[in-house]
Amino acid sequence: MTHPDPTPRAMVERAIRVDHAGEYGAKRIYEGQLAVLGRTKWRGTLEHMKDQEQVHLDTFSRLVGERRVRPTALLPVWHVAGFALGAATALLGHRGAMACTVAVEEAIDEHYQAQEAALGEDEAALKAHIATFRAEELEHRDIGLANEAEQAPAYRLLSAAIKAGCKVAIRLSERI
Ligand SMILES: [Fe+2]
Ligand SMILES: [Fe+2]
Repeated sequence: MTHPDPTPRAMVERAIRVDHAGEYGAKRIYEGQLAVLGRTKWRGTLEHMKDQEQVHLDTFSRLVGERRVRPTALLPVWHVAGFALGAATALLGHRGAMACTVAVEEAIDEHYQAQEAALGEDEAALKAHIATFRAEELEHRDIGLANEAEQAPAYRLLSAAIKAGCKVAIRLSERI
C-alpha cells in the first residue's frame, strides 16, 4: 500500500482561512436579511439558516485557533459587505433575499466541492466538516428555490452579480 503525500500545510491553511471568512460572511448576510425581514413570516426560515451558519463559523473559528491559521485581514470588510448584501437583497422583498441565498450557496457548493477533492485523507476530519456543511448549504439553496428565488426582480442579473462577487471574495480571502 502506498502512502500518499500529506496535504501541503499551505493548502490547508488557505482552506481554513477562506472557509472561516466565508462562513463569517454568510452569517452576516442572514443578519442583514433579518434586519429587514425579521418581523415578517420569513423570520423563522432566515433564523434557521443563520443558526446553521453560526455552527459552521464556530467550527472554523475553532480550527483557526487549533491549527494556528492567520485569519483573513478582510473580516471587517466581510462584516460590512455581508450585512449590506443581505439587507439590500431583502429590501427587494423575500424573493430578493432568497435569490441572494441561492446564488451564494451555489458558489459555496462549488468551492466546497473543489476543497473536498483537493484535501488528502490525512485531512479526513476537515473534509468531513466540509461535506456536512456543504449539505447544509445545499439545503439553504433549496429553501431559496422553494421560496420563489427565481421570481426575484432581474433574477439572472442579480444571481450572476452575486456569484461573481462571491468568487472574488473567495480568492481574496484565501490570500489576504
Ligand atoms: Fe455555511
Ligand atoms: Fe449557507
